[in-house]
Amino acid sequence: MDYQNVKGTHDIILDDSIYYDYIISVMTNVATSFNYHKFVTPIIESSDLFIRGKNDSSDMVRKQMYTFNDLGNRSITLRPEGTASIARCIVNNKLYANNDFPIKAYYYGPVFRYERPKAGTYRQFHQFGVESIGTNNAQTDVETLLVSYQILQYLGFEKLVIKINTLGDEESRNNYRDALIKYFTPLIDKMCPDCQQRLKLNPLRILDCKSPEDQELIKNAPKISDYLNEASLKRFNECKKLLETLNIQYEVDEGLVRGLDYYSHLVYEFQYISKKSQLNVGSIGGGGHYDNLISEVGGPSLAGVGFAFGIERIFSLLKDDELLPKLNNGIDFFIMPLDEKYMPNALDLANYLTINYFIVDICLEKKSFKTMFHKAINRKAKFAIIFGENEINNKSFIIKDLNKETQDTVKYEDFARYVNEKCRPHEEHDHCCCHHEDGEECDCGCEEGHECHCEKDNK
Ligand code: HAM
Repeated sequence: MDYQNVKGTHDIILDDSIYYDYIISVMTNVATSFNYHKFVTPIIESSDLFIRGKNDSSDMVRKQMYTFNDLGNRSITLRPEGTASIARCIVNNKLYANNDFPIKAYYYGPVFRYERPKAGTYRQFHQFGVESIGTNNAQTDVETLLVSYQILQYLGFEKLVIKINTLGDEESRNNYRDALIKYFTPLIDKMCPDCQQRLKLNPLRILDCKSPEDQELIKNAPKISDYLNEASLKRFNECKKLLETLNIQYEVDEGLVRGLDYYSHLVYEFQYISKKSQLNVGSIGGGGHYDNLISEVGGPSLAGVGFAFGIERIFSLLKDDELLPKLNNGIDFFIMPLDEKYMPNALDLANYLTINYFIVDICLEKKSFKTMFHKAINRKAKFAIIFGENEINNKSFIIKDLNKETQDTVKYEDFARYVNEKCRPHEEHDHCCCHHEDGEECDCGCEEGHECHCEKDNK
């Protein structure tokens, strides 16, 4: 039997998993610095959390959910996004009870959508998102955009396209919806079957259609900007002004409606095409404001705003443009006992070194010296610690520097001092801080505060 991963899923392993952790850590650090708190919600939810009304028009809810009945005959859905789960969590836990707003949540983890797999599109993928709940104004909407923008800056994206639009308040949207119905109804026979359905459920969704025939019809459709009431227009102008103050460049795209039904007012999306291979995997993130989601899931009338990034898409673009830092720096020590009977010594040594914050690996089965040496190289070890009968009898280890190709025999009593002085990786900022006379920074590698060993003249 040949077991394959399920179509549209993928394994995240080896260096890729290091980079996923790195991307999540950048996102977490920025979100935490804006005082967002980590929320971990279940991957499974009651299906009715996502199917909130019979008239939900989003493809995600109508066609892409992994829904099944559990053994207790409950309808369960693998979460297709995080926002509804965060809303449910806030309501279930009455986090609004102390009236201290906004409630700021960040989250990450797998989400599931039954989509046609292609580059950057999976059926199980990972999102990182934030939601800010309970404060309803342009500043809060823009704060979330700033968080997402800062994350993308830290990750190294340059020349991002940030698209924004407004879906206005309910009154503006109702007026716009009527105008779209009036425009599209006579054209219904020329539209794709999905859009014929969308016209009945939510005509705004038609603007999202990718079919070329419908695109032609969409070109002449009414624009939301002509249907915004004064308050909605004012709010959108405030958002734009704040973005300008923050020096965040954006494009207004009146066709941007986003793929979910809960949005109102500001919506935004990030797009990036890699410079190296012109890789375009679709939007790398997006979000916006929502007025009614919290009340729809049983809570009080509180507005929210947030965004989510697709980690797979971000990773593939960073990789293609070589924007990922060098992270797999290998291990500090590879421990090479020359005989099986010295395995206890090897484990004991590993215990000592790891307690002292070194990264180690051990050859835990009998292997030739040559094989062990290859293993050390494969693991990018900086040092090998070798010991056989001679060393054990002399109470010593051989420590081989695999970069410099030098080695020392180190007595047990000198071992702690030796590894601390010679083998401990120094942080950049711990290095010698003096300058050469020509003004150039010294990079001799000796520690800050220690005597400089550099050959050049220093000041
Ligand atoms: P979304 O636009 O549906 O928004 O998804 C956010 C991001 O997830 C997308 O921009 C994309 O990078 C990634 N993504 C979506 N589908 C796939 C897929 N099939 N494979 C790989 N990546 C994908 C939301 O999910 C909203 N909950 C965002 C939000 C938060 N709005 C307000 N708060």
